[in-house]
Amino acid sequence: MTQKRLKIKEGLRAAEALEEIIIYGWVRTRRDSKEFSFMEVNDGSCLANMQVVVDAGIDGYDRIQDFTTGSAVRVTGMLVDSLGKGQKWEVKATRIELVGKAEESYPLQKKRHSLEYLREISHLRPRSNLFGAVFRVRSRLAYAIHQFFQEKGFVYVHTPLITASDCEGAGEMFRVSTLDPKNPPKNGEGSIDYEQDFFGRPTFLTVSGQLEAEIFALSHGEVYTFGPTFRAENSHTSRHASEFWMIEPEMAFCDLEGDMDLAEAFIKYLIKDVLEHCEEDLEMFGKFVDKTLLERLKFVVERPFNRISYTEAVELLQGSGAKFEYRVEYGANLQSEHERYLTEEHFKSPVTVYNYPKAIKPFYMRQNDDDKTVAAMDVLVPGIGEIIGGSQREERLDRLDEAMKQHDLSEEDYWWYRDLRRFGTAPHAGFGLGFERMLMFVTGVANIRDVIPFARTPGSAEF
Ligand code: 4AD
Ligand code: MG
Repeated sequence: MTQKRLKIKEGLRAAEALEEIIIYGWVRTRRDSKEFSFMEVNDGSCLANMQVVVDAGIDGYDRIQDFTTGSAVRVTGMLVDSLGKGQKWEVKATRIELVGKAEESYPLQKKRHSLEYLREISHLRPRSNLFGAVFRVRSRLAYAIHQFFQEKGFVYVHTPLITASDCEGAGEMFRVSTLDPKNPPKNGEGSIDYEQDFFGRPTFLTVSGQLEAEIFALSHGEVYTFGPTFRAENSHTSRHASEFWMIEPEMAFCDLEGDMDLAEAFIKYLIKDVLEHCEEDLEMFGKFVDKTLLERLKFVVERPFNRISYTEAVELLQGSGAKFEYRVEYGANLQSEHERYLTEEHFKSPVTVYNYPKAIKPFYMRQNDDDKTVAAMDVLVPGIGEIIGGSQREERLDRLDEAMKQHDLSEEDYWWYRDLRRFGTAPHAGFGLGFERMLMFVTGVANIRDVIPFARTPGSAEF
């Protein structure tokens, strides 16, 4: 099947005319005149279509009316200079074959559809210009992530998706169980007996691979994970998904400062990479999705991120005179409106906020000497707010035990995590980048549901 097959992306970039080629793809539009037809064919390899000139009388032309928008086709022909405007090359067909006809009711006809409607047809939306581009950029971004870490000698670790521990301690986990929900076994106290469950204990889908990544940082030095994570958080926002991908580097012999440096270098590297390799797609986003996109991305690459402590951030927000729905108080979490004020209004650039009050952060973060704060950091970016969350980890066993007590965690459950502090402990730090939030940032697409192929959000798991 693939003999002499040419991807449209290669064809459009060809250095010279080509005698015999085959392209496969889907018809975007067709225009007929007496002597010939024009077909625009797209194969997903790039945003642009290949224009195909079909002379009446060539092999297959008798069925030209069946080559409807959305149909899968095979075109044999020559790559020749295009006489039309807008493209250098076009295909002069010698033979056209209908691989799979699209019925007249094919929903992606030429008119523009709302993003909400396109979400309902997530099985077809990858064939649209916008989503074709989003998912090419997603693929490239994933590649660039591996490249960034592999170039630096980080080891890629696969952490488990099924886990018994709640890393973030927020209680937002999906249970994994094979017990019969209608008739679960009960223990003496009348509650469900998870000892009889599949794993002999309560298990969940992971919210983060961090705890296991820490294990490998303390053997391989610098590691990263890149995989799906799950949160049963009932957030109905444009930035929260119940299933999302996260990248989590973890570095031994590294402190908070080194962690913030890596986060900044990482984001800049990824933006530079997509600016270079996804130019055509980004230009389209700049035209149709967010007019200020390219300017903003270039700005972010060129300038250092701002850094500000949580305490300074609270003072700044309190003194800003801005009206917020939630009051800014020392000791409370920064709300997304506060984060966005900092990055969009005040600094007008990415900003890393560090040293948060320990009471609002998970057990594993390293206590600072002030006894009030932990060595945490969040990277905030315009349009999104938090894109990265990370910290230096508590490497001192006595301090860790103290924190675990405060968080009501049992030493028994975390025996292996504590062991890391008993056998060759070392300062270490890491962070998590939300992959979809990064994609929103580089494409300008405003809703997380539109940068993941099949969104899982509260009340929605179609496809
Ligand atoms: O800040 P979070 O919760 O940090 C952790 O999970 C740490 N264990 C990471 C680490 O230090 N290794 O999540 C990290 C990032 C957030 O900054 C955000 O970008 C993204 O993950 N994120 C979500 N993205 C989409 N939907 C959600 N519900 C998200 N929750 C977090
Ligand atoms: Mg966070």
